[in-house]
Formats: sequence, C-alpha cells, structure tokens
Amino acid sequence: MYKAVEVLGLTKWYGSILAVDHLNFEIQEGEIFGFLGPNGAGKTTTIKMLIGLVKPSEGTAKIFGFDIMKEARDAKKNIGIVWEESNIYPELSAWENLMFSGEIYHVGKKERQARATELLEKFGLYDRRNDKVGGFSKGVTYSTTEVGSFVGSSPSPLQAGLLSPARRDVALLAIFTEAL
Ligand SMILES: Nc1ncnc2c1ncn2[C@@H]1O[C@H](COP(=O)(O)OP(=O)(O)OP(=O)(O)O)[C@@H](O)[C@H]1O
Ligand SMILES: [Mg+2]
Repeated sequence: MYKAVEVLGLTKWYGSILAVDHLNFEIQEGEIFGFLGPNGAGKTTTIKMLIGLVKPSEGTAKIFGFDIMKEARDAKKNIGIVWEESNIYPELSAWENLMFSGEIYHVGKKERQARATELLEKFGLYDRRNDKVGGFSKGVTYSTTEVGSFVGSSPSPLQAGLLSPARRDVALLAIFTEAL
C-alpha cells in the first residue's frame, strides 16, 4: 500500500496572513479522504500547493512519494483535479473531451482510448460517449469531468475532485485513487 499523499508541515503565508499553518496528514492509496473546514480555513490553498499552483512558504508534500518541491513534474503527473466549476467543454462530446484531457497530458492515442473506454464503462457513461456534454445533467457532467481527470493521469493516479457539487458552507474535497 502506497502513501498517495503525505503532507509534511505544509505552511503558507500570504503577506501577514497565515493561510495554512504547519499542516500534516497522510492519505493511503485507495482511501477516500474528506478534507473539511470552515470558510477561510485554508482548504483551497492546501490543494493549490499540492497541485503546484501555489508555492509553499514552508514544509512540503509528497504525491506517491514525489516531492512537490523537488520533483514537481512527477508529482503533477500523479495528481488530477476537478474543481467545483467543471472545466469540460459543453460543445464537445464526452469522448472528445476525454481524448483532449489525455492529449494535453501526453497520454498516447491507444492508451487514452483504452482508459476512456474502461472508465466510461466503470462510471456507466459509455452509452453517452458521443453525446454533447452541454446536454448532460449536472451530475453526469461531473462524472464525465472526473473520468477526464483519470484519463489524463499516470497509470497509478491520484485524483482530487469534488464527488458532488457540494456548494455549502464547507467544501467537500474527496481525494481518491484508481483503486476505487
Ligand atoms: N491569493 C491570496 N492572497 C491573500 N490571501 C489569500 C489568498 N488566497 C487565500 N487567502 C487567505 O488565506 C486564508 C485561507 O483561504 P482559503 O481560500 O485557502 O480557504 P478555504 O478553506 O478554501 O475557504 P472557503 O471554504 O471559503 O473556500 C483566508 O484567510 C484567505 O483570505
Ligand atoms: Mg476554498
């Protein structure tokens, strides 16, 4: 069993604001992990550090053993993100979106087709693969977005995504792996 995520003293100062204060936690491969907290607690800042959008002030984290500071490229290859607002293209079909996700992560054609087929079947979306995403319900759009983040990740990926459009006072972030 791998440690999918290991957060080690992760800290972020925005000027004089301490957004994340020496955070430590671990997520095992295959584990579903809910990361909850009140508004302003530092959830988004933490996720942005894990995916390389924000540089930590102190501490680090490892994604499947890859240090986000020293091995940023490998760490990024092993993490996918689904934001609350889906970044999927409504005018394209589900299949076209998935091929695009794979392509921008340099996943070869055969591999991205195989991954997309398997994942669409797993998520019960295969029959809708040629439909435009613009006509999907919110839940199906999210599922398609999640599949897209899997298609774009390494074979043993960590995926970070909102499993449901939880727009409440706390945001639910579920981090899960392909072992689901
Ligand atoms: N770019 C930024 N510049 C300055 N301060 C920031 C910036 N981003 C976040 N902060 C501050 O850092 C703290 C943590 O914010 P963050 O957005 O990480 O919280 P959150 O847990 O995601 O909150 P929410 O539940 O409201 O989404 C807050 O005090 C916020 O105002
Ligand atoms: Mg937030």
